[in-house]
Amino acid sequence: MRLMTRIDPSRSTSSSDDTVKVSPINRVKGELRLPGDKSISHRAAMLSALASGESILQNFSSAQDCMATLECLQALGVDVVKADSTVVIQGVGPAGLQAPAQNLNAQNSGTTMRLLAGILAGQPFAATITGDDSLRTRPMLRVAEPLRLMGARVAAEANGCAPLRIEGQRPLQSIRYQLPVASAQIKSAVLLAGLAAKGITTVKESSQTRDHTERMLLEFGAQVIRNGNACSIQGGPTLHPCQLFIPGDISSAAFFIAAAAVLPHSDLCIHNVGLNPTRSAFLATLRAMGADIGVTDERLEGGEPVGALHVHGKASKDLPALEISGAIVPNLIDELPLLGFVAASIGCAMSLSDAQELRFKECDRIAATVDNLSRMGARIKERTDGWQLYAGSKLHGARLSSFGDHRIAMACAVAALGASGTSDIESARSAVAVSLPEFWTLLESVAN
Ligand code: S3P
Repeated sequence: MRLMTRIDPSRSTSSSDDTVKVSPINRVKGELRLPGDKSISHRAAMLSALASGESILQNFSSAQDCMATLECLQALGVDVVKADSTVVIQGVGPAGLQAPAQNLNAQNSGTTMRLLAGILAGQPFAATITGDDSLRTRPMLRVAEPLRLMGARVAAEANGCAPLRIEGQRPLQSIRYQLPVASAQIKSAVLLAGLAAKGITTVKESSQTRDHTERMLLEFGAQVIRNGNACSIQGGPTLHPCQLFIPGDISSAAFFIAAAAVLPHSDLCIHNVGLNPTRSAFLATLRAMGADIGVTDERLEGGEPVGALHVHGKASKDLPALEISGAIVPNLIDELPLLGFVAASIGCAMSLSDAQELRFKECDRIAATVDNLSRMGARIKERTDGWQLYAGSKLHGARLSSFGDHRIAMACAVAALGASGTSDIESARSAVAVSLPEFWTLLESVAN
């Protein structure tokens, strides 16, 4: 076994059980089926709660973030039963949520906090939503501002962070809102608040962000009109319950796809992966780097495109520099650090700009990427809004850090698999639970 989760201190060279030791492997080979998409699972759970009647959600995400959403919904009086990956939710209807007895806890999940803020804005009671140390440092005025314009009272800490105390109002006022930052979470919060508004609420974005909320609202029977980069919702609908199969998470699949693309002779199939075009620029980018990625079994599941991905290791180092900036950034937002690790693994240059939003994720993902890649021997310079990675990197094993961030932990692991020598990734075993608790087991199952 070449990949070892250091849970046994007697076998570990590290002082912490949470460090994972990763040694190089030759290739990844096999088949995977991944838990449901985190972004889609949050939205499915929230709309099920607001629908009138029982919804059944299959292949629901195993992410800790999505458990946080389910727990918050329970605290708002919604009956939620989870058995393996199936979640059954008894929707309480548009006005059926109850004031929570305690603060709601979104834990590490920005999506839980911001989307729920949109729902709470339209409830006739007050609620406070808080989160863990990381979430309580992330900017929340961006969600508070449009919700205040709609008539909710939203109080944040003096630094603009959570806890958020939301005194909702029903009905809210509808607004036309131009997003000041490209953020699907803010767009979604406004659309969800729009459900409880009088009239039509419109959100405009200058760069297209993921559109799962729009698709899911349609699925539950809301009236949504999409016109270019604007989306409008009619307030006051009664949502009907749904039975949905949640597609596998493309942002989790990305780590396995990247490993297969970087390691020659890899042969990997991942079934049921969500292929929403607002999320899948990562595949096109890897293809442009020479990766051989095929798609079969394409279909729609709950309004979302899904397919099986077949990856054969072929990314090439004889490439022009990878240049990423502008409108493509939101489509790649969660995969950008991983792309940095992939580029460095194959010795390709990469220039990233317009990605300052990465500094406001579960950790500062620009700093974390630059720091870890430097430790592995890459020549990389940090920019305010991205990085410049120089061609010709040959990565070596090193002591790395997840900075407590699930995506950084998994990106480090991918780079470590293709580096020379062993790496120790600190605070990595538990970090992955935020989006994919099964990550280390799944990686071992395809490591060759
Ligand atoms: C998400 C949107 C993105 C993304 C996050 C999930 C969502 O955040 O980074 O992992 O589910 O809407 P922003 O909307 O803040 O860019």
